[in-house]
Amino acid sequence: MISVESGIEHTDLEKEAPWELEYRPPPLWPTSGSISFSSVNFRYNLDSPLVLRNLGASIFPRQTYGIVGKTGAGKSSLIAALFRLSEPEGSIDIDGMLTTCIGLHDLRKKMSIALQVCTAEHSHMFF
Ligand SMILES: Nc1ncnc2c1ncn2[C@@H]1O[C@H](COP(=O)(O)OP(=O)(O)OP(=O)(O)O)[C@@H](O)[C@H]1O
Ligand SMILES: [Mg+2]
Repeated sequence: MISVESGIEHTDLEKEAPWELEYRPPPLWPTSGSISFSSVNFRYNLDSPLVLRNLGASIFPRQTYGIVGKTGAGKSSLIAALFRLSEPEGSIDIDGMLTTCIGLHDLRKKMSIALQVCTAEHSHMFF
């Protein structure tokens, strides 16, 4: 009965944005991988508090970045905003394309998450 209850609850979730929109990014997008966050606000649900507030940052191509902060600071939420797990306010732009102007599938199929690899040579990224 618990699984039936969970199933019913899941029919009543907030819907994600469309997977594809009429406006499609060019097939080769993104070519260089620059990312710009500008005045980004992000929350997980309509009725939950902001977890990213007025965030601005520029990520330049072919650079490796480390994001540090105490637990709950919002490191993982940065990635959640990038993948549009819920809709960010402000703008997140990848190679000149606003992530909120394209369908979720067009956005997500061009990004991947590499699980944390902690060797001496590969210990750059911590989320
Ligand atoms: N799926 C979620 N739904 C609702 N709130 C969330 C969710 N994930 C994280 N949060 C909230 O967002 C805020 C930022 O959390 P986040 O997970 O981004 O922090 P973090 O910097 O990655 O922390 P950690 O170092 O523990 O991984 C916290 O207040 C957290 O409770
Ligand atoms: Mg985290």
